[in-house]
Amino acid sequence: MDSILVKGNGALNGVIPIAGAKNACLTLMPATLLSDEPLTLTNAPRLSDIRTMTQLLGSLGAEVASLQDGQVLAMSSHAITNHTADYDIVRKMRASILVLGPMLARAGEATVSMPGGCAIGNRPIDLHLKALEAFGAKIELAAGYVKAVQPDGGMPGGDFDFPVVSVGATENALMAAVLANGTSRLFNAAREPEIVDLCNMLVAMGAEIEGIGTSSLIIHGVKRLHGATYRVMPDRIEAGSYACAAAITGGEVRLEGARADEMMATIHALQAIGCDVSWDAKSVTVGASGPLKATNLTTAPYPGLATDMQAQLMALLCKAEGASVLKETIFENRFMHVPELTRMGADITTEGRTAVVKGVSRLTGAEVMATDLRASMSLVIAGLAAEGETTVRRLYHLDRGYERLEEKLQLVGADIERVDD
Ligand code: EPU
Repeated sequence: MDSILVKGNGALNGVIPIAGAKNACLTLMPATLLSDEPLTLTNAPRLSDIRTMTQLLGSLGAEVASLQDGQVLAMSSHAITNHTADYDIVRKMRASILVLGPMLARAGEATVSMPGGCAIGNRPIDLHLKALEAFGAKIELAAGYVKAVQPDGGMPGGDFDFPVVSVGATENALMAAVLANGTSRLFNAAREPEIVDLCNMLVAMGAEIEGIGTSSLIIHGVKRLHGATYRVMPDRIEAGSYACAAAITGGEVRLEGARADEMMATIHALQAIGCDVSWDAKSVTVGASGPLKATNLTTAPYPGLATDMQAQLMALLCKAEGASVLKETIFENRFMHVPELTRMGADITTEGRTAVVKGVSRLTGAEVMATDLRASMSLVIAGLAAEGETTVRRLYHLDRGYERLEEKLQLVGADIERVDD
């Protein structure tokens, strides 16, 4: 199984191209099920999660052609030939649940294996199902599968007020509502940039959505959606991760393609840590010329600080002067990187969802492994600033969400390679 071998090699300097956003692409792809016309995505990231979604859509009858080395996905769903998303695929990737809403809307019924818990928390899907029920769908749970069926005469649409902000449930609800007979309203909806991307693409396909970018969305159902060609937004989490990598080494990188306005909370966190951040319409530049400072950070739904940045910022704070407090409010178990960072010499204590990080002057390389994507990235970041060699095992986590990680870090001077051990 492959591992990443990284050695501290001084400051990272240069330009890193930012890929299309994994979490946007994973919700844009299932929208192909909403129309019998072709849907083409450009700027798609080359990731194993995208290949898993390709496989899932294929199993439902969609055709997905990966063109231009995977950066263009030409999709079409003339007919949905199978209404069941199997456990074998869903267990590999929780985002598989995002086929539920569009399949129900177009085919009148959808059966999807329940995803179950994962390394960062329980991650229930109750809100996905309650929103669909509010639109008039009938939901049954049996043998580990959820089956959603439209009532006779089609889905009327309805109102749903999310008790907890959920990105995935908002996406499923949006895709179910666009083809309903009537109007649906979502309150306390997630408003992450990936949701805005989905709304914009659905509108490009002929959907009628008001309130895009706010937490109240009004969706007027339309009879059918047509095809479109749409560019996936840049990955704000990939950009933020490389920003942390540059900062921990005292270097400066230009993140080509990143959009500052979509990652302001991360930029504010980096500034509080003492980084210099500047941007223009096409890129964000992050550098750290002076000492890093401790700061207190709390994750929150957008526009708050993304939970997907917590582990990488924690790695950075391991090298800051003073004690930082990090609070994780989204997931109950998202500190799995802490014991591994500690093995590299970090001084971190946790209590519940709070971590106290005391900066250390020296991190040391070690053999480490993490149980999820962002946690794995935090170990790479720490490894870039550690003395000696760090081996990050379970590389498949990184391959789910970071396109050509070692190549991009080599571009800016990192001593990093993929090894087969
Ligand atoms: N929640 C419920 N019930 C539900 C759905 C969610 O209680 O039906 C809870 C969750 O347990 C969690 C909170 O609501 O405590 C927020 O979860 P959310 O539904 O927003 O997360 P998600 O849609 O499953 C997406 C991203 C995650 C990211 C979160 C939060 C994708 C494919 N995944 O997950 O990304 O952490 O939003 O921003 O978009 C990652 O990329 O590493 C990753 C984990």
